[in-house]
Amino acid sequence: MSANITNSGEIQTLLNNVAGLNNADGDPRIKEIVRRIVSDLFTAIEDLDITESEFWHGLHFMQAAAPELILIAPGLGFDHFQDVLMDAADEKAGQTGGTPRTIEGPLYVENAPVSNGEATLVSDEEGDPMQVFGVIKDEQGAPIANAKVEIWHASKDGGYSHFDPSLKEFAFRGSIITNEHGEYRATSIMPSGYACPPGGSTEAMLKQLGRHGNRPAHIHFFVSASGYKHLTTQINIAGDPYTFDDFAFATRDELVVDANDVDGVAHVNFDLSMVKAVDASDEQRSGRPRMAG
Ligand code: DHB
Ligand code: FE
Repeated sequence: MSANITNSGEIQTLLNNVAGLNNADGDPRIKEIVRRIVSDLFTAIEDLDITESEFWHGLHFMQAAAPELILIAPGLGFDHFQDVLMDAADEKAGQTGGTPRTIEGPLYVENAPVSNGEATLVSDEEGDPMQVFGVIKDEQGAPIANAKVEIWHASKDGGYSHFDPSLKEFAFRGSIITNEHGEYRATSIMPSGYACPPGGSTEAMLKQLGRHGNRPAHIHFFVSASGYKHLTTQINIAGDPYTFDDFAFATRDELVVDANDVDGVAHVNFDLSMVKAVDASDEQRSGRPRMAG
């Protein structure tokens, strides 16, 4: 049998003590999670014969990687896995439909400028002009006025403002309130695909896995409207070499959108469909910690 030692009374008692199950203080939910995760790691160490050296190499890697952990998580599929879990929960609750969700990613910033109907996103950069526009609709196709459409994307070099110091504050970020026809429109420049930071821990880890750290050109969306479920999604521009080879596993077929040249401006037309909220908390995005700009 596998994990004989982990399953022994001695180690089970150790795990109970590690997780503080022998005291009445602390947070029961945290205790439950710590007990399970440490136990699963002990099992993996035993089953895979992870040596002491390998264990400490792993721990030192994580210590060095700490500032990049939120970048590594998508590369290890955690963000997409959460989407699949949320899709399954929606399915079980009979709340399917609407534009598919996909990962938020680690680079959202709060407090971007708000505009009505349309916005020209802040930029000092030259780039290929782009307009991203569409209609926010309910599931019957009726437009939703006063929906809040938050958009953020990378520069022509794949950098994000507030993370890439060469970019102006709130560059390529904006919050647009839909007009009476449910329309939003952002004037900006075409983003390039993103690559994980060169020389960093994410890149080092992916190399050990024989993988790359590239994402296709993409545009992020948060959409919220009174009475509808908050939607976190993004579109991937068709034709990018990484559209179907995204290291963060965020591409979904329904979210691949063409950029059509109209008199030298890339037009990216994306309508979104919102599902009715069941309770007020559905209207909110997740409580994930986010950077305030
Ligand atoms: C990462 C970067 C992104 O721009 C994104 O949308 C998702 C993930 C990352 O660095 O992991
Ligand atoms: Fe992104």
